[in-house]
Amino acid sequence: MKYYILFGPPGAGKGTQATAMAEKFNLCHISTGELLRAEIKAGTELGRQAAALINDGKLVPDRVVEAMIAGKFNSVKDVDGFLLDGFPRTLDQAEALDEMLEEEGEEVTAVVSIMIPDETIVRRIQGRAAIEGRADDADLSVIEHRIETYHAQTEPLIAYYQAQDKYRQVDGTGTVEQVREEIFKIL
Ligand code: AP5
Ligand code: MG
Repeated sequence: MKYYILFGPPGAGKGTQATAMAEKFNLCHISTGELLRAEIKAGTELGRQAAALINDGKLVPDRVVEAMIAGKFNSVKDVDGFLLDGFPRTLDQAEALDEMLEEEGEEVTAVVSIMIPDETIVRRIQGRAAIEGRADDADLSVIEHRIETYHAQTEPLIAYYQAQDKYRQVDGTGTVEQVREEIFKIL
């Protein structure tokens, strides 16, 4: 099985690129952000707790997302691999993922990182706000807090995967098609 991580700051284009990648390489796309938004929409207890954190630009607890991922690994069949979008996002999550995969005799195949500067993040998310209506996109201070959270808690994963020679970065500032071409070359 292939285990790809789709990495990048908020608004980098992870969700945009994931659909084509999953289709072309027969991967199960798992977005922890989308799973959490589904919990919020369904009005579950988990959703209620997550909403308060997400709408403040903070991360939900590691154990919550780790359990979501483990559940998906155990239930999805008939794919050639998984495409993890928005997970892992902390060192704890990266280590938990390594342990989960090691138990199955598997490992992370590669980390595909879509990189854009902070100014582009804000512009893209503000553009998406009107289209998708995500609560965490509506307010500039929340967007800025998400960027801070990314730099403080998620960016250290770059060094973690570089040390394992699994980190591959593409320039995310080109068109959707240009970025897709770059990603396909890596896969
Ligand atoms: P999540 O849903 O993962 O949000 P995110 O990481 O902030 O990323 P986004 O979904 O905002 O951006 P994207 O990279 O998918 O970009 P998109 O393709 O939409 O997480 C939300 C929250 O859930 C987190 O803040 C956290 O609270 C919680 N959470 C999730 N996972 C967690 C975890 N593992 N641990 C703890 N908490 C977790 O593109 C953005 C816009 O740009 C779109 O409008 C798109 O059309 C446009 N666009 C895309 N590519 C291009 C391009 N090349 N050129 C021009 N426009 C483009
Ligand atoms: Mg997304």
